[in-house]
Amino acid sequence: MASFHIKTYGCQMNVRDSEVLSNRLLALGYRLSENEEAADIIIVNSCSVRGKAEDKALGKIGLLCSERRIRPGLVVGLVGCMAQRLGSGVFNKVPGLSFCVGTRAEHLVPEILERAINGETGICETGEFTDSGTPPPEHPEFSGSGGCRAVTGFVTVLLGCDRRCTYCIVPDVRGHERSRSPQNVLEEVRGLYESGIRDVTLLGQSVMNYGKRGFSWPDGIPSPGGYNEPFPRLLEYIAGMLPSLKRIRFTSGHPCGVTDELVRAMASIPQICPHLHLPLQSGSDRVLARMRRGYNSGEYLNAVSKLRANVPGIAITTDIIVGFPGETESDFECTRRVMDEAGFDNSFIFKFSPRPGTPAALMPDDVDEEEKLRRNKVLLEDQDKRGQTINSSLIGSETNVLVEGPSLRNGNRWSGRNGQNKIVVFEPWDGISAGDFADMVITDAHPQTLFAERVTVKAGCP
Ligand code: SAH
Ligand code: SF4
Ligand code: F3S
Repeated sequence: MASFHIKTYGCQMNVRDSEVLSNRLLALGYRLSENEEAADIIIVNSCSVRGKAEDKALGKIGLLCSERRIRPGLVVGLVGCMAQRLGSGVFNKVPGLSFCVGTRAEHLVPEILERAINGETGICETGEFTDSGTPPPEHPEFSGSGGCRAVTGFVTVLLGCDRRCTYCIVPDVRGHERSRSPQNVLEEVRGLYESGIRDVTLLGQSVMNYGKRGFSWPDGIPSPGGYNEPFPRLLEYIAGMLPSLKRIRFTSGHPCGVTDELVRAMASIPQICPHLHLPLQSGSDRVLARMRRGYNSGEYLNAVSKLRANVPGIAITTDIIVGFPGETESDFECTRRVMDEAGFDNSFIFKFSPRPGTPAALMPDDVDEEEKLRRNKVLLEDQDKRGQTINSSLIGSETNVLVEGPSLRNGNRWSGRNGQNKIVVFEPWDGISAGDFADMVITDAHPQTLFAERVTVKAGCP
């Protein structure tokens, strides 16, 4: 049977979709090739969020199709968000591409693949975006076959997005919000746990919107903690049914979802990690309104204060867009101030990229590239200083680390993550293995990395 390789761009949701596709193909008898050069089929899972992300995937499929001269019979397919956005238009850009299958039609890949193996090219399937009442496709497959580093896993609980921030393409390529049933989510998390995953992240573009649309919480699943909102109930349910799953996370957060119930769930359910990725995007109220984010900087900072007051030691990370249309120097300075006040442990900074069909693409893209670059650099430097200060203050304290494997930078040392999702680097010990939990004392700190020594070792979970 033919061998396949999947190259993934984009966010964790794409990582998970690639795992699902990979499991589907393995179940049909295809062989996984870790190595792109040796594969008979190469599938590129693409992202559309910024122009650069699309350029990368387009460059990759173009290159692969041109390799057919020396690799006759090579099947090259495109899936994911860019496939959904471009549809058959991609064949004008990359003639010879075997297939283009969008996010809503990925379950059709196996049959399309058979046609492509028989030599057909230009096959396009983007499915239909039906309304929010349609149940989401359920994915019973789970991951966990990824080798020694696979101790963390993702489960999508909320598909799509209804927020429609003015700069964002995601609602166009992922459709309306659709929530999976709690039982189905549980089944998948359990599958991950049984395959050795010790740290599970529940995914949604705005994950606290889980259960808000076209959904009612099933009868027969009570809430011992008395939660009424579906997302805290989901957290309580998963944690209660899988008490030995030590770490549960969720992403991405939205400040409007930081309700009293959510904070109570984070504070009282011990398995929920003290970390939240809470994209701010901008610290200027004027820009936030033009982005249609649904909050102002004061409301954002209130959400941060509520989290810090109730969840001890919580790490908060964020996303920022610089150079949004009309962003002035004083708007930018507001962002710097709010970032400082929020005290982010880490930040991901992006230069605004107009996305076709979004409202912001019609606004004048009036911050020039050089200025976008400068603002990007300033925020990264601010973050480095902030990260260094925060991490240095942790030296001497104890932290619990989930061991992942040899450090990617220096194979003599190993690395893992703590509950705050910080990378921790340490000397390995005899008998160490991925999936162990270890108490460590922090001995040194960089802006994005902690260094630590083992205190005691707890056995890996059964
Ligand atoms: N659903 C998540 C984010 C998904 S996209 C959320 O709302 O938090 C990941 C990040 O990409 C966003 O947080 C934003 O910072 C960035 N992004 C999205 N569209 C962008 C664009 N057009 N230009 C630049 N950055 C963008
Ligand atoms: Fe995009 Fe906004 Fe939805 Fe996030 S919440 S995916 S930024 S529209
Ligand atoms: Fe990109 Fe699609 Fe994720 S556009 S960020 S891969 S949802």
